[in-house]
Amino acid sequence: MINSTAIKGSDFGDDFLWGVVIAAAQNEGAAKMGGRGPSIWDEFARKNGKIKSGHKPTVACDFYHRYKDDLLLVKALGFRVFRFSISWSRILPEGTGKVNTEGVLFYHQVIDESLQLGLIPFVTLYHWDLPSALEKEGGWASTHMLKWFTRYVQVCVKEFGDKVKHWIVLNEPMGFTSLGYMIGKHAPGKIGLSNFLPAVHNAVMAQAEGGRIIRAHVAHAVIGTSFSCSEIIPLTESDKDRAAARRIDILLNRLFIEPSLGLGYPSDDFILMDKLYLHNKAWKFKERMQFDFDFIGIQNYFPVVVKHNAMIPIIQATDVSAKRRKQPVTDMGWEINPNSFYNIIEQFASYKGVKKIIISESGAYFKDKLIAGVINDQRRIDYYQQFLQALLRARNNQLPVGGYFAWTLMDNFEWSEGYHAKFGLVHVDFATQLRTVKASGHWFRQFLAQ
Ligand code: NOJ
Repeated sequence: MINSTAIKGSDFGDDFLWGVVIAAAQNEGAAKMGGRGPSIWDEFARKNGKIKSGHKPTVACDFYHRYKDDLLLVKALGFRVFRFSISWSRILPEGTGKVNTEGVLFYHQVIDESLQLGLIPFVTLYHWDLPSALEKEGGWASTHMLKWFTRYVQVCVKEFGDKVKHWIVLNEPMGFTSLGYMIGKHAPGKIGLSNFLPAVHNAVMAQAEGGRIIRAHVAHAVIGTSFSCSEIIPLTESDKDRAAARRIDILLNRLFIEPSLGLGYPSDDFILMDKLYLHNKAWKFKERMQFDFDFIGIQNYFPVVVKHNAMIPIIQATDVSAKRRKQPVTDMGWEINPNSFYNIIEQFASYKGVKKIIISESGAYFKDKLIAGVINDQRRIDYYQQFLQALLRARNNQLPVGGYFAWTLMDNFEWSEGYHAKFGLVHVDFATQLRTVKASGHWFRQFLAQ
């Protein structure tokens, strides 16, 4: 067990932002209520049979009806920031066209309630739940995507821009383009380069365009976008393994941030990047792919160890699992490696154009046991302690980290894992919707109070 007195919230300074995160598709539920249209996750859960135990996001944590109590929990745990996402299909049930006033009202209520409690509402515009109506027209792979996204962002900033100053344009574009449009593990379940290449480019364009729209309409906006990232470590020092690691680094770390910094797509002799560039005629868009973000969000859950593998087309690399390397893992099988968390912060901080970094998600799934109304999730506490220690080291070493948001407030719908993988600081009984603060939640409260 790690010494809990080692560090405390105040070590990070008064201006450091501490937050918790939820996402619409994972928490809200009320999928068919309040005039909301279906999203790709409702359809995927209904049709594709790829979600564990056939779980569906229809009710989830019922945040739609319970947001007041849930915001009280955020406050009680001592966080200052409440990061949540807007469901596009609650605002525009058809993706474009008519605005759903009931949906707009719901987010006004969440924002007002947050502000009244003294919480900073931190809004993610897109956390993976595209309206189904747009997917029928090709979704992120469609040439119309930018037009649709522009309209949606305009509606949101016009409605909420007076109250909300902190914005995250996209959540993990590599996540939703690769899992959703390349390997089909996530909604909408599409596969292949003909979907992936345009989806990536449209997401790159959307993140910059979203930033510009917010800047133009919201006074004093603080604008960012969030990237998934992993330190990439070659298995050996051989030239082949190192080249394989460079390719995976491009895919998992550099692909979305570099165009946003005005660097264009990374290349480094990686044939996939040539395909991406040519497919999208990207030379025409270098300037439009760029935006001067106030901060970037980074979300790191594990490092990736890579070796050369000639059998894998194009990428010619495979990862060597943490289990095979006998490293400590969470119950997701993800390696627990706080040093690697430090290293990836350093990697992103080394870009000249990155002004500030917020850890916009960080957390772990461990199997919890509810015994006599108590969840003693010591492993999650240990996890947070180790990662926060690494983060403090980053801060003390002058890396520009300005905030840390825990993933996640409460157990929720973990995409293709359904309700099995629980990352929450608060346990949810999905039969009764009863919330129970876990030991990790209590630990956070004490950590932040000191
Ligand atoms: C990243 C995603 O943004 C979030 O939705 C997901 O639940 C967590 N990682 C954990 O997998």
